Amino acid sequence: MGEPILRATNIYSGYGKLQVINGISLELHQGELVTIIGPNGSGKSTFIKTLIGLVELFSGKVEINGRDVTGKKPHEIIKEGIPIGYVPQLSNVFPSLTIEENLKMGYYTKKWDQSFHERTEELFQLFPVLKERYKQRASLLSGGERQQLALARALMPTPKILLLDEPTAALAPKLAEEMLQLILKLKRELNISILLVEQRAKRSLELSDRGYVFVTGRIAAEGTADELLAEDKIRRLYLGQRD
Ligand SMILES: Nc1ncnc2c1ncn2[C@@H]1O[C@H](COP(=O)(O)OP(=O)(O)OP(=O)(O)O)[C@@H](O)[C@H]1O
Ligand SMILES: [Mg+2]
Repeated sequence: MGEPILRATNIYSGYGKLQVINGISLELHQGELVTIIGPNGSGKSTFIKTLIGLVELFSGKVEINGRDVTGKKPHEIIKEGIPIGYVPQLSNVFPSLTIEENLKMGYYTKKWDQSFHERTEELFQLFPVLKERYKQRASLLSGGERQQLALARALMPTPKILLLDEPTAALAPKLAEEMLQLILKLKRELNISILLVEQRAKRSLELSDRGYVFVTGRIAAEGTADELLAEDKIRRLYLGQRD
């Protein structure tokens, strides 16, 4: 494997005096789908936000797409054209705006080398429901459709890397599986490198190349998805399986 597309080295971060991330190193390679699992409060969201400057970095180094972005704020990362998209946990869409307007909000970072309409037509292939509902307010969408809109918005500027924080949260099992399949498709068909935080630990590991287990802001285990799924202790503690 060559240089990772995203590399975090010995990250310490948190909120003011509260240190949440205690020395995490992690890599995402080109074309990989990597899952982060771990108990509530273990720092998964904090870590993801640290990568793009939404949480204060105390020490460590962050490199994305061959660039050192350590300590950079989100607007600086956007300004430098780092091709990364982020969908926060409990993803926010703008409920009072239409689907079209929400997608435009995602498009503002795009250098205008592709028209808004071309890009939305491409994304409608992946998210047909958004085409049907294009002129409606996002508040009229179901939970699953909103998650799709949040993901589509992040995809508007054609990112090479995606950070997804629990995109299946609050979805019924069938919709959650559809969302995970869609994520797999982004990796396989669009060659997007994806760092995914998931509560549906077993299922997401099954679809992933590798995984990391976070516990109290540290990495408790890491490996290929097969290695993690085969490990008794991990199955018992983190995958909710007794055998
Ligand atoms: N804005 C904040 N200010 C202060 N502390 C915070 C803030 N956000 C999170 N924390 C604390 O940081 C710790 C890690 O939270 P984080 O949201 O990163 O965990 P998580 O692994 O994503 O959990 P979950 O699985 O519930 O989403 C928790 O103790 C939490 O209370
Ligand atoms: Mg979280």
